[in-house]
Amino acid sequence: MSGRHRESKALERVLATPGGGCVSVLVQGGWGSGKTSVLRAVLAGAREDAATRVVSASADPLECGLRYAVVRQLFERLVADGADSPYGGRTPGSARRPAPWEPRPSGPSDPMTGQDAAALRDLHQLATQLVSQGRLLVAVDDLQWSDTTSLRWLRHLLHRADDLPLVVIAALGPEDARSNSAGIAAAVPLFQHRLTLGGLSDEAVGSLAEEVLGEAPEPSFTTACRNATGGNLLLVDALLRGARASGRPVDADLAPRITEFVPADLGPAVLTRIEGVAPHTTATAEAVAVLGGSPTVDLLTAVTGLTQPQVEDAAHALVRANWRSTPASAAIRRAWTTPSR
Ligand SMILES: Nc1ncnc2c1ncn2[C@@H]1O[C@H](COP(=O)(O)OP(=O)(O)OP(=O)(O)O)[C@@H](O)[C@H]1O
Ligand SMILES: [Mg+2]
Repeated sequence: MSGRHRESKALERVLATPGGGCVSVLVQGGWGSGKTSVLRAVLAGAREDAATRVVSASADPLECGLRYAVVRQLFERLVADGADSPYGGRTPGSARRPAPWEPRPSGPSDPMTGQDAAALRDLHQLATQLVSQGRLLVAVDDLQWSDTTSLRWLRHLLHRADDLPLVVIAALGPEDARSNSAGIAAAVPLFQHRLTLGGLSDEAVGSLAEEVLGEAPEPSFTTACRNATGGNLLLVDALLRGARASGRPVDADLAPRITEFVPADLGPAVLTRIEGVAPHTTATAEAVAVLGGSPTVDLLTAVTGLTQPQVEDAAHALVRANWRSTPASAAIRRAWTTPSR
């Protein structure tokens, strides 16, 4: 995968570690750093291996308050199909066994004790049954939005997985967006390996540029692209597409003007991601982008109608999450000034 070639190779090496036990990897990185793409590349490779069964989920911020939302994404279809799980193959007339995440009619009513203990036991039984048929790969994207009960299951699994032919790989976004910080903090140390996706190097930007533009760009262009974006994959990719669409020669002359051609789809992509960073970040980022330069808190307060502490908290969160870059602001400005808005 160009742009993340080095990291993808490192991940391949970890996953190819000989031995029958569990391998667990946490892929960490900021917004748009390439976590999902790295995860997808692993899944695509694993799906080609007939001896590996793949189950995957993507935690949804709208479901982080639901019980077992991620677990259900992982196993629901498998359990419904029934053939390979303890929940299928029942004899005609026998009662259906409830899936592990379903409330137990006859069990203790306290969901934090009896119900969850039974669910964790059943989920572990399901996992051991699945690995008895071959290697199982469990992948969870956007772990930062996982519900509490699924995180508890993940910790339960990782604590007991050492000898199982299991791969657990999860992608975790930045701290600002974590809906369940305590549960995440407890799960993170249980992963054997961590892969952190930092800013792309000049070399990585160069290889991505070659792929997008169809030719190797001049080094000054590559450096300008990396400097303007901090090496953020989402932004680098957008600037390269913008440069290509501009029809101008990609040379040293274009380098200082590289953020003039941000594509129209970057603004919505940036705003969607900014929304989850912290309260009021969207309004604050839009005001900063439209006003241009470095507007004072007083001006931002007047323009947004927010209070001073709200603006300050949102602005700090945006800086921490690296959203105050020129292309991000240019993209938001473009989204604002587009007539269809
Ligand atoms: N190999 C690639 N070549 C070019 N662009 C890519 C590549 N992989 C990803 N991108 C671009 O980078 C963006 C960010 O990648 P990705 O979605 O994998 O990051 P992420 O860290 O999962 O982002 P998020 O924080 O939104 O979950 C993609 O939307 C795509 O535009
Ligand atoms: Mg992602």
